[in-house]
Amino acid sequence: MKNSTNSGSVSWESPSNIALIKYWGKKGNQLPCNPSISMSLKNSLSLTNLTYEPKGKGDQLSFLFEGKRQEPFEQRIANFFESLSDQFSFLKDFQISISSENTFPHSTGIASSASAMSSLALCLCSMEEEVTGVQVEKDEFYRKASLIARLGSGSASRSVYGGFVAWGESNSFSKSSDEYAVPFSQYIHPVFQDFQDAILLVSSEKKVVSSSAGHQLMVNHPYATARFAQANSHFERMLGVLRSGNLEEFIEIMENEALSLHGLMMNSTPSFTLLKPNTLELIERIRSFRLSSHIPIGFTLDAGPNIHLMYPKSEKEKVVPFIDSDLSPFLENGKYIIDEKGEGPQKIKI
Ligand code: PMV
Repeated sequence: MKNSTNSGSVSWESPSNIALIKYWGKKGNQLPCNPSISMSLKNSLSLTNLTYEPKGKGDQLSFLFEGKRQEPFEQRIANFFESLSDQFSFLKDFQISISSENTFPHSTGIASSASAMSSLALCLCSMEEEVTGVQVEKDEFYRKASLIARLGSGSASRSVYGGFVAWGESNSFSKSSDEYAVPFSQYIHPVFQDFQDAILLVSSEKKVVSSSAGHQLMVNHPYATARFAQANSHFERMLGVLRSGNLEEFIEIMENEALSLHGLMMNSTPSFTLLKPNTLELIERIRSFRLSSHIPIGFTLDAGPNIHLMYPKSEKEKVVPFIDSDLSPFLENGKYIIDEKGEGPQKIKI
């Protein structure tokens, strides 16, 4: 127990994550239709600062993104805060100013809602400790932060932890939950301990379908039942692969997940084709390089055209020259970002 405060400032830095088993389709209050697994990144981060003081008359929430006022986001966050009145009853009594920035450029296919919402959720949990004067146990703190992040953006629930993270109930993962994500505390094969992700920028155009509209496409989707069964089976197999280090199986499942996600979007009503001709060209090139070089590299995709090229660190010296010579002509301005598995969020002292 420590003293409570009525004004203060908290900051958290939190990563984006890349899903290996995709969450696509939700039910109830932001609950997933199937379990997912992601890898948290190291360099693609959001840094969020939250300052609070007692509310005066007419005070409004304020939100700055990279130093500029963002009214549409402000409204989204105001609605989000209102929806959290059960979890954080103190919120209504404070004037809150938030400022956030990313370490990665806009529209690069890096999921910024995951890093932004997880860093905001962590700030809210730290604020709760300060204003109530009650410090909760570490596991409980992160569990609540994951649940709050989930309410903001499903995939953000996984960004509250580093390494490999599971979200969504599964019989094959004992502590799993639909409400919050759970980090892998069990053995992970050494090949995955410093796994790499090169994010290849095919197009920086704005997304044509928001992720909430995307999840909605799974309601009454003709393949929904089969997809959720497939995701459950992939989830179980991926748990085994992360322990065994079987890269061939890892790549098979990861690529199948990415293409299943896009297949589901293509045969939804309405239908979306988010892959660009260059995405397909890159996929062909990655697969033929893998065949000819026997280097275990594979790809995954978010709900967009950009490729996450995944490979063991031991292959980095061969993979980076391959990107430069064979893949970069198909990238927007030749641009890619090298990232890797990260250790998770950090509280920042200012
Ligand atoms: O968290 P959302 O609602 O933006 O959905 C994320 C969906 C995917 O990125 C396509 C898959 C995932 O599991 O991250």
